[in-house]
Amino acid sequence: MASYDVIFIGGGPGGYVGAIRAAQLGLRTACVEGRETLGGTCLNVGCIPSKALLHATHQLHEAEHNFEAMGLMGAKPKPDWKKMLAYKDDAIGQNVKGVEFLFKKNKVDWLKGWAAIPAPGKVRVGEEVHEAGAIVIATGSESASLKGVEVDEKAVVTSTGALELGRIPKKLVVIGGGVIGLEMGSVYARLGSEVTVVEYLDRLIPGNDSEVARTFQRILRKQGMEFILGAAVQGVETLKTKTKVHYKLRKDDSAHVLDADTVLLATGRRPYTEGLGLEALGVKLTDRGQVAVNARFETSVKGVYAIGDATPGAMLAHKAMDEGHAVAEILAGQAGHVNHLLIPGVIYTHPEVASVGETEETLKEAGRAYKVGKFSFMGNGRAKANFAADGFVKILADRETDRILGAHIVGPMAGDLIHEICVAMEFGAAAEDLARTCHAHPTYSEAVREAALACGDGAIHA
Ligand code: NAI
Repeated sequence: MASYDVIFIGGGPGGYVGAIRAAQLGLRTACVEGRETLGGTCLNVGCIPSKALLHATHQLHEAEHNFEAMGLMGAKPKPDWKKMLAYKDDAIGQNVKGVEFLFKKNKVDWLKGWAAIPAPGKVRVGEEVHEAGAIVIATGSESASLKGVEVDEKAVVTSTGALELGRIPKKLVVIGGGVIGLEMGSVYARLGSEVTVVEYLDRLIPGNDSEVARTFQRILRKQGMEFILGAAVQGVETLKTKTKVHYKLRKDDSAHVLDADTVLLATGRRPYTEGLGLEALGVKLTDRGQVAVNARFETSVKGVYAIGDATPGAMLAHKAMDEGHAVAEILAGQAGHVNHLLIPGVIYTHPEVASVGETEETLKEAGRAYKVGKFSFMGNGRAKANFAADGFVKILADRETDRILGAHIVGPMAGDLIHEICVAMEFGAAAEDLARTCHAHPTYSEAVREAALACGDGAIHA
């Protein structure tokens, strides 16, 4: 038994970042993780492996569609699925080992096993009970289930199984037109699968700007993906050689069936807090099963904190990381804080989709006066040269004060471009501030500046 100032439960982006920061701030720190490797869902079966497959298949797409036009001739590459999976596993391996190295470097003890909290100030891992001044729950989330759909991670998979299918499916049906469905759907579409996305709502990526969602859907359709919107999945039947997805169209209640050899269930995630003993401990949960916390990440039990996917808010690795950072600072007596209004969201397809702050929908709902500055990548020289001119940047600013309220991008490197707007917003900038900042030419970033110009007297290249 050892005693610590703080024990983080969960070695994902929330827990590992929090633990490293806590140790750097001089706290005796441990992190409990039951997986064989650190890094949580994100590094092991989420963000990192999916990005590796997105990267590899994007290269394939470029070779198939754009190489000849650039004068790059010769045999087109063919995917070797086993090798591609090995490349993905290598990307995971490098990252999880990196976290282990950082733990050693910063003197964070990795307590291997699954944790329970038998009482405030105590964490049980296997047979051992450790004392802790503070306990931080950072246990993340798991795929949500859907009535009538039984996941076997072979024919019917979640995002985890979708990262290691035995072979590239001929027909893939994706249930849910959200982030996971579209990222993994586009991986398999690029590999030659017939991909059909069945979405309950009448639009994709709910919560994002609807104009972005429409443009994004058009682009993905051009890449070969099919969409059935306004469709409620009733169940999935697994037969010997195929699966059948039963759904009803919401507009007329008509029943339909889709055949598939693989079905990906991607209808959201739910907090994972199993086995911690939260009920006995008296930790309050929200009606959605999330651990309820205040702005200092305190739960209803003194000395027990929670961060990341297990708590309310966006289920995003970088939100968890920021909260880990902040809770460590709070525990070290500093003023840790996360601005939850400025958490960017990114979809790593090609093109990427990125957003931050308000959407037109949320502004309308709040009755706020705003203006829109939009710029198409068609007017961006670099994007045109790179066959990446599909999409646009849209900046929403206060109609009176010009202060930036939100931004939405569908286009090349959107996930990187969004950050200059995040920084600007964090400093309370007006669109004119961005518009007056020199942007190097030729870069994709010029599209951001042009959208900011469009909030005022107008863009130059539109
Ligand atoms: P999601 O919430 O993004 O999308 C789920 C979709 O499924 C929604 O569009 C919803 O309307 C639809 N849906 C729900 N029930 C349905 C039904 N019965 N039939 C048809 N459609 C139905 O959830 P997703 O994609 O599973 O991702 C889970 C979480 O992981 C999200 O919070 C997401 O932000 C996060 N994530 C983030 C990534 C990123 O930042 N790039 C990558 C992957 C996941």
